[in-house]
Amino acid sequence: MALAVATSIAGAREAMGAARRGGLSSGLVPTMGALHEGHRKLIQVAREECDWLAVSIFVNPTQFGPEEDFDTYPRDLDSDLAMCRQSGVDLVFQPVRAEIYPATHRTFVEVETVTSHLCGRFRPGHFRGVATIVLKLLNILGPDRAYFGEKDAQQTVVVRQLVKDLNLPVVVRQVPTVRESDGLAISSRNRHLGPQERRAAAVLFRVLKEIRTLVLQGGRDAARVRRSGLRLLSRETRVQVEYLELVDPETMQPVSEVRGPVRAAAAIRVGGVRLIDNLLCEAADR
Ligand code: PAJ
Repeated sequence: MALAVATSIAGAREAMGAARRGGLSSGLVPTMGALHEGHRKLIQVAREECDWLAVSIFVNPTQFGPEEDFDTYPRDLDSDLAMCRQSGVDLVFQPVRAEIYPATHRTFVEVETVTSHLCGRFRPGHFRGVATIVLKLLNILGPDRAYFGEKDAQQTVVVRQLVKDLNLPVVVRQVPTVRESDGLAISSRNRHLGPQERRAAAVLFRVLKEIRTLVLQGGRDAARVRRSGLRLLSRETRVQVEYLELVDPETMQPVSEVRGPVRAAAAIRVGGVRLIDNLLCEAADR
């Protein structure tokens, strides 16, 4: 089937309605565009699991803080459409801001507790914007499944909580993080790194792997494991740490003792660029 592009809510609903009437199972991959190999993986997994697949492209203003990079966020629609076409996407939904957030828009969604640490703490209002746009996209399209990347694991937990609390009839799927050869998680923000910053950024995944090793070897004292991680990060002078935490993977709350699986999650700044990553750490014998 050829790729269709809808820029209006009515157009997107019409395309989705036709698929549903045809008895097709449907999937949605929400994105902010500037598609890269991480997005491609989500699209591939979704393509395999769904008969009909939509990708949304919308740089959502409500999830950016006033000092954040909404204006400089990369936008590259031609190459986005080429990737979607190549990957067998059925519909690209590229809504316009005025229809998503008309001047009369008043409703926002707050997901509590799972947003109180990590990015939720350092980006006030971010997950309110994410939850609001994801709910709107799910309401507009009504897919059977929606796909999110493990790179933004807190975001997936927020969406799962939203879906559960608001009884949304959608299955949330999480796809593993796609990385560069040195382990750096692929992100549209990586392109803003200079060559030396790019090399320094690889420390982020190295630290997460080190934490995983410590946990695997039986490290139970989260504060101690965390301190080892921070020590490693501090050796890289170009890197400033925003947070490094060991959290419960279900609740996203910091743990003091490692008793089961934990997620090591970090945000750093290299030059002016903010990077996040995380890794699930499980001890072999617990
Ligand atoms: P965006 O940053 O474009 O990411 C879209 C999806 O791709 C997210 O689920 C993200 O976790 C996933 N992704 C990004 N980089 C990845 C990588 N290296 N490996 C695997 N998956 C990766 O996340 C958003 O947009 C927005 O917050 C959105 C959910 C669209 C709401 O506006």
